[in-house]
Amino acid sequence: MGDEAPAAAVWAYDGRVPGPVIRARQGEPLRLRFENGLPQPSTIHWHGIRIDNAMDGVAGLTQDVVAPGEAFDYVFTPPDAGTYWYHPHNRSWEQVARGLYGLLIVEERKPPRVDQDLVFVADDWRLTEDGQIHEASLGHMRDWSHAGRLGNWLTVNGVSQPRFRVRSGERIRLRLANCANARVLHFVFEDHEPKLIALDGQPLAAPRNLDDGRVVLAPGQRADLVIDMHLDPGAKAGIMEVSNAGPVEVARFIYHASEIARSGPQPPPSPLPANPLPQELDLEGAQRVEVVMEGGAMGRMSGARHRGKQLSMRELVSAGQVWALNGTAGMTEKPLLKIRRGQVAILDLINETAWPHAMHLHGHHFREVERNGQRLKEAPWRDTVLLDIEERAAIAFLADNPGKWMFHCHMLEHQAGGMTTWVEVT
Ligand code: C2O
Ligand code: CU
Repeated sequence: MGDEAPAAAVWAYDGRVPGPVIRARQGEPLRLRFENGLPQPSTIHWHGIRIDNAMDGVAGLTQDVVAPGEAFDYVFTPPDAGTYWYHPHNRSWEQVARGLYGLLIVEERKPPRVDQDLVFVADDWRLTEDGQIHEASLGHMRDWSHAGRLGNWLTVNGVSQPRFRVRSGERIRLRLANCANARVLHFVFEDHEPKLIALDGQPLAAPRNLDDGRVVLAPGQRADLVIDMHLDPGAKAGIMEVSNAGPVEVARFIYHASEIARSGPQPPPSPLPANPLPQELDLEGAQRVEVVMEGGAMGRMSGARHRGKQLSMRELVSAGQVWALNGTAGMTEKPLLKIRRGQVAILDLINETAWPHAMHLHGHHFREVERNGQRLKEAPWRDTVLLDIEERAAIAFLADNPGKWMFHCHMLEHQAGGMTTWVEVT
């Protein structure tokens, strides 16, 4: 909203949207008490943390919902440094849309030297004309069967067009997260050359330039950038979102009018210290499963199983189900994959729908090993992978974290509309 417009009525953690930035230390226990003051049951999921299964926050799979007025203590030790986030895992399509999300930063034991460590938490809201959350369309099947709930108002750190104040010569770290329900965001930085240092919390082996000069973040994904502020004092530069026809300025760097932090170029940034991820993935001995993604508008799906029954497309729609994985809409009694601890799994994702999807695995990071028939080597570790229309991607992970782990589309309407399953590590 503009400066004078009223703020939208939201659901919030600690009264703020985004919720407070939680800062934790790698390898040190963290205690967080969730008190549910919402009119609905909820939970908190710590997205991207390779967490103890009991603390993963998935209603109905790893814990019971926390009823209004009740509380739950989350206690866990994050093994990896990096940029993570938290959000409800019960009716996420509604609760995240209403403003429940926040950043969880796990600090490196030796953080890289930067002048400012800034957060950039993006959201895509659907607002009414008077600037309130468009409640009437929450749960609309049209959104569920198409791209999900796309909004009409982009915010960064909960506001429209925030200004990041910098000084000439500074080096900043910018932690970007896409907390939108469904929109894939594409960010472009005017007059600057960011270096990508981490994706989904995990450091890249070497910092690199942005592909096509942009950061593409599907819902749930994060990116850490290092940016050298090389313009002159008094300069301004926009950060644009370019997924739509025209670029939209979503934030702006404002250089101090006279102060200079340092002059001359800086040495290139060093890689972040590595997290304790597996050195190697033995793909030869891996357990491989195909995951056929079907359904949605303009799809070919004629029916699917749901809660143990074969249903026609019409019956599915009246049950609020429009997507399926391997012929099943929604959660199954048996996991998609049951795997012994220490084994490597490959999920071969086949998008047979007319829509992109952002597939997220809980409790593990994975590497993409194939895309559309092409082998990939040493692709970055991720917890969420974007598949475009009709694309195919194989992801591999070491199943080293015992428990029941969700695997679902992070376009939250697709998740609720059937595109969800789980894997079990025993
Ligand atoms: Cu960020 Cu299962 O979700
Ligand atoms: Cu999807």
